[in-house]
Amino acid sequence: AVLPILSFLIGYALGSIPFGIILTKATGAGDLRSIGSGNIGATNVLRTGRKGLAAATLILDMLKATAAILIVHYLLPGHEGVAAIGALIGHLYPVWLKFRGGKGVATFLGILIAMAPLAALIFAGVWIGALLLTRYSSVGGMSASLSAPIAVLFLDGNVPLAMLFLGFALLVVWKHRDNIVRLLQGTESKVGRKTNG
Ligand code: G3P
Repeated sequence: AVLPILSFLIGYALGSIPFGIILTKATGAGDLRSIGSGNIGATNVLRTGRKGLAAATLILDMLKATAAILIVHYLLPGHEGVAAIGALIGHLYPVWLKFRGGKGVATFLGILIAMAPLAALIFAGVWIGALLLTRYSSVGGMSASLSAPIAVLFLDGNVPLAMLFLGFALLVVWKHRDNIVRLLQGTESKVGRKTNG
């Protein structure tokens, strides 16, 4: 079981890099934990008012997962799924932040780019579509995440991969439980507004 464990650790090591925290600290943009939702992701970086920094957070949180899977694909072929699990768990539960990590939307997209490019396109489309329709980043992220297992099932007919992505989507939704409560209460903050969630 050495190779799967190694693959998981490569995924975890890259996935647990909290780019939102690193970038906002390095540029003096503020303390993410005391802004908005307190989350470490791009949406909350956007609440600091730094759009470029939010975009960089989104791209880096995405690419760290893509990179982890590509590295494992070349070094330990066949263990990409375990690397993906490591990357997502690393982002959601990073040991460096006492396991208080992000919500996984960008990281999930990065996984899809490496493992299921067509599903990644659909994910991105659903994400942008739902975000534009509702202005809720959380709704966009959860809808996109849930679209991934469906897309893989119908496009590739790959049941094991669809099951893996269903697990990822459920983890992402679980991480959004505070957002869901706020959505039900009508207190979730919209993207492009100044009010905080
Ligand atoms: O990807 C995170 C996003 O879906 C919600 O972020 O900060 O509004 O909880 P936030």
